[in-house]
Amino acid sequence: MMLSRRRFLQTSTAMLLVPVGVRAASSDLVAQAAAQQIAPDGYPTTPVWTYGGSVPGFDIRVRQGERVQRTLVNNLPQPTAVHWHGIRIANAMDGVPGLTQEAVEAGASFDYDFVVPDAGTYWYHSHNRSMEQVARGLYGPLIVEEASPPDVDRDLMLMLDDWRLDPDTAHIVNDFDNGHDLSHAGRLGNLVTVNGRFDPDYPVGTAERLRLRLINASNARIYDLSLDGLSGWIVALDGMPLEQPLPVEETFPLAPAQRVDLIVDVTAKAQEIASLVSVERDGGFGLARFPVSEGAAATPRQGIDPLPPNSMPEVQYDDAPLHRMVLQGGAMRWLEAAKIGDTELTGRELAQLGRFWALNGYAERPKDPFLDARLGQTHRIEFVNETAFPHAMHLHGHHFRIVLPDGSLGPWRDTVLVERGQSRQIALVADNPGDWLLHCHMLGHAASGMMSWFRVS
Ligand code: C2O
Ligand code: CU
Ligand code: CU
Repeated sequence: MMLSRRRFLQTSTAMLLVPVGVRAASSDLVAQAAAQQIAPDGYPTTPVWTYGGSVPGFDIRVRQGERVQRTLVNNLPQPTAVHWHGIRIANAMDGVPGLTQEAVEAGASFDYDFVVPDAGTYWYHSHNRSMEQVARGLYGPLIVEEASPPDVDRDLMLMLDDWRLDPDTAHIVNDFDNGHDLSHAGRLGNLVTVNGRFDPDYPVGTAERLRLRLINASNARIYDLSLDGLSGWIVALDGMPLEQPLPVEETFPLAPAQRVDLIVDVTAKAQEIASLVSVERDGGFGLARFPVSEGAAATPRQGIDPLPPNSMPEVQYDDAPLHRMVLQGGAMRWLEAAKIGDTELTGRELAQLGRFWALNGYAERPKDPFLDARLGQTHRIEFVNETAFPHAMHLHGHHFRIVLPDGSLGPWRDTVLVERGQSRQIALVADNPGDWLLHCHMLGHAASGMMSWFRVS
């Protein structure tokens, strides 16, 4: 099976739901096995793990400031937990086994109950054995609507994933722990889907204005995206509105866990097909198609207003303490030594344990926090990437501002891509009390050493 621009028909009747052991009330979020047509038609269905029976999972859509109450019911054969990515949440609801809760055993359940402070595009995913469970499909969208949403004709959520499927059986290749992936760029697949389908269609009308909410749920793939037959602006990153919408030119990156909200106008003519394209070194391929028909109501609009801002803390970063976090290890820059707990191990010993990366000399979440912040303090963190690979560094419970090379403050984000050999600085207002993870969102990297945490008290 190859990534290709070929056209395949999609049918929803191909989706077979595996019987569910526990009956779900509407407020349940049932983690369950299912089978879904992931590969193009003509291939068998793929056994997947889901929230509620399909990938992406159950669509959670609320208004800003509303409360989300979901009981996770675990019908999977493994313990699991749900993390609400990008939500500035109460610590006990953050879904991190071993830090904020115990993993939810097979057959057990856990009540999540929290308020969403910010409007925007977020997502939820498993945070236990994530490199396997997310790769099997345990993720879904969490959309928080603005009190007064922007004027668009359609609001489309497009969740990107990268699957490694056996070309004969269409089963997910069960090699999550393989040392080559872990020590290189992570688990890259051979089939990219949008909303769990290969190259799906989203019919649109001429001159319509669309809001596209792109979410990268892939284990490790960084996309370089471009638009064909659509033109417009980036209006939000990682859920947070940009002060000034940014016109889309050429390509824009989307690293694992990141989101980008676009507001675009259909510029393709009736009968043409607009598309979302993943640009690769050798040309690229379409991810989703937007067949255009004569629009009834839409009249072309001019310009755009920024989305209403979320209420974020003031970032006073000039004299904020600066903390360096050095990203170490991986192929071509193999670790000579790193610590697990108090014990220093050699690179060879670490590799035998499946640890290939380290953050400041630790190849596992250390006992003591990387940063111990007083509530309300501002801190700067500089990620120094000494490895030969890019990493998508993510902080829990907070958004931070990117510090631009000229020292000014860039956009709010919750996940920053640090290219190889690069340093990126962020400014963080530690305003959410608790113990929070800080890790690479290439999920295999996190599992093989790139995991740390910080404390706010
Ligand atoms: Cu999206 Cu720690 O995760
Ligand atoms: Cu997160
Ligand atoms: Cu990484």
